Amino acid sequence: MADDGARMATTHQRHTRARLGAQTAQPLRRRGSLLAELYRSAVGKKYAMAISGLVLMVYVLLHLAGNLKLYAGAESMNAYAAWLRVMGEPVLPEGGALWAVRVILIVAVIVHIAAAAQLTAMNRADFASRTMRWSGVIVGLFIVYHLADLTFGWLNPNPDFAHGSTAYGNVVASFSNPVVAGLYIVANLALGLHLYHGAWSLFQSMGWSNPAVKPWRRGFAIAFAVVVAAGNISFPIAVLTGAVA
Ligand code: HEM
Repeated sequence: MADDGARMATTHQRHTRARLGAQTAQPLRRRGSLLAELYRSAVGKKYAMAISGLVLMVYVLLHLAGNLKLYAGAESMNAYAAWLRVMGEPVLPEGGALWAVRVILIVAVIVHIAAAAQLTAMNRADFASRTMRWSGVIVGLFIVYHLADLTFGWLNPNPDFAHGSTAYGNVVASFSNPVVAGLYIVANLALGLHLYHGAWSLFQSMGWSNPAVKPWRRGFAIAFAVVVAAGNISFPIAVLTGAVA
């Protein structure tokens, strides 16, 4: 017992010395910018998760709003998809605004995944439940499939697939296959769960917990997740039932 105690004390002392050593060595290390330094800490990574997550939340909401054009018919949906290519003209060149949005999205996705992986590696016991990990992986895989299906058209069954001008037909062709429609439904259920946890954690990570905000944090997280998931799931169901054809 006494021996054990002595050994533990030595281990403890060793760790303390290592920590102190790291601290005293720090001023000698070349410092990056303030942002890079903040990012190195767990709190900084949580901010990065929260802000990139917020950008992605805004995107899924706007994307849902755009996709509601499916209910207004082929002409409306295709005109909207075509408009995405010319928005910002003539100030920006054709596709300029669309590419700006794409760059923001790509950066947000990279930051979100990198911060998640690094926080996991730092073994933060308080970081993200297992639900967040598997729902995040499903959403990530879904996005890869979704791009191959509706953006690049590689997996899309519409023989007339053309970028931008056949969006309605592409969606209907895709969801006419019950397996694909099922995949979209499952992925959007996972997205709903991810958004619920994510929207809730956003408030925690950003430190938005004053008494004025506290009562409706959960309500906001639930409402956001349900609107996005239910809205997105309604599209494959509408095609499967023939309401959209
Ligand atoms: C059933 C629900 C959905 C439908 C019907 C749908 C439909 C579409 C369509 C038609 C496009 C191609 C737009 C175009 O090129 O004009 C597209 C692109 C895209 N979708 Fe979705 N989408 C759905 C859900 C989602 C979800 C849940 C996400 C993200 C989690 C997502 C992310 C994207 C992304 C990143 C693009 C590429 C945008 C670009 O840069 O061109 N979509 N979607």
